[in-house]
Amino acid sequence: MTLGSLADTHTIRSPAHVEYGSGAVDALESFARDRGIDSVLVVTDDHLAASGVIDTPVARLEAAGVDVVVYDGVAPEPKLAMAEAAAEQVGDRDLVVGVGGGSSMDTAKLAAALAAHGGPVRDMLGMDNVPGETGPLALVPTTAGTGSEVTHVGVFADERDGGVKKVVFSPFLFADLAAVDPDLTETMPPGVAAATGLDALTHAIESYVSVLRTPYTDTLARRAVELVAENLRPAVAQGPENDEVRANMSLAATLAGQAFVNSGLGAVHALTYPLGMECGLGHGLANGVLLPHVMRYNVPAEVDRFADLADLLGEQRRPGESDRAFADRSVEAVFDLLADVNVPTSIAEYGDFDRETFADFADVAFEHSEHNIDRNPRRMDREDVIGVFEAADEGR
Ligand SMILES: [Fe+2]
Repeated sequence: MTLGSLADTHTIRSPAHVEYGSGAVDALESFARDRGIDSVLVVTDDHLAASGVIDTPVARLEAAGVDVVVYDGVAPEPKLAMAEAAAEQVGDRDLVVGVGGGSSMDTAKLAAALAAHGGPVRDMLGMDNVPGETGPLALVPTTAGTGSEVTHVGVFADERDGGVKKVVFSPFLFADLAAVDPDLTETMPPGVAAATGLDALTHAIESYVSVLRTPYTDTLARRAVELVAENLRPAVAQGPENDEVRANMSLAATLAGQAFVNSGLGAVHALTYPLGMECGLGHGLANGVLLPHVMRYNVPAEVDRFADLADLLGEQRRPGESDRAFADRSVEAVFDLLADVNVPTSIAEYGDFDRETFADFADVAFEHSEHNIDRNPRRMDREDVIGVFEAADEGR
């Protein structure tokens, strides 16, 4: 095990309050009472609203005597216009609660910022462009993966720029309360459980090898990798039948979110943007299919770290096996996991690509996600990015 230096100082960013475990959603009631909240906008999607997943959070808020209005216009890979529409509905409501996956929670963050400060929304994109505190914000995940509940990041498609993903980062986007209740993940379909769980694994692995990792993020990332390795397969296969594996996946997602928000990510999250846009592929799935290919590229730069990851992913070192050979098995372990949760190991499953397309993908990755490439442990230029896409096209 190779942890970073304990001698340096590190900033640790997190939401004000994280409530975790079965029944954690009940914390919404005391949160609303303690702050004298009278009215709330719940930000979610129409599927969660119609299927009743939001009923428990809404009931807890109503139990505190709060008037609840629901905005259910969020869609996967949300657009900036959704945050603007949600912000209009905030009006003078004194709490915004995001309930759902990363899309709903990200939209709630930006809606709260827009409601507090006004637009235009594009002025808030990028790093540290939210002018100040938002009103009270609570986030309630219903998937186990994005970690958005514990981050100060939102990702949006910019409909005025060909749907390119744009990121907003601001310390003012941290929630006042993150209520992580695994009971709310019970109705998650297996495909969503797989995709979101692979997003969490990608967060943990990219954090563990990020150039900005710290002993604090290492500790969170290591445990998140173990939890995903032990629980994602049964979480996908058994779903609602197995409370323990779902609780472990919720914990893994939140730990991985806390890890990456303090360490940054890496090239997987950069390469995911153009791939997802081109193929209409969701964030978690795009990360999952690219993860082992980026790991394979990165192993030579961080052999010890990838050997740690092989161990955390459940691989056993063979007698006499070299560090490098064992490190390479971390890549194979992720390929095995993808296959077991029915996720392709090649991007050729999602489209007919050529080198020219990959060159365009590389340009998009550098233009919009260079901060993630900068944190990757092995340096990458445009040709390197094209090479990783070609390897991902070839497959395992
Ligand atoms: Fe992610």
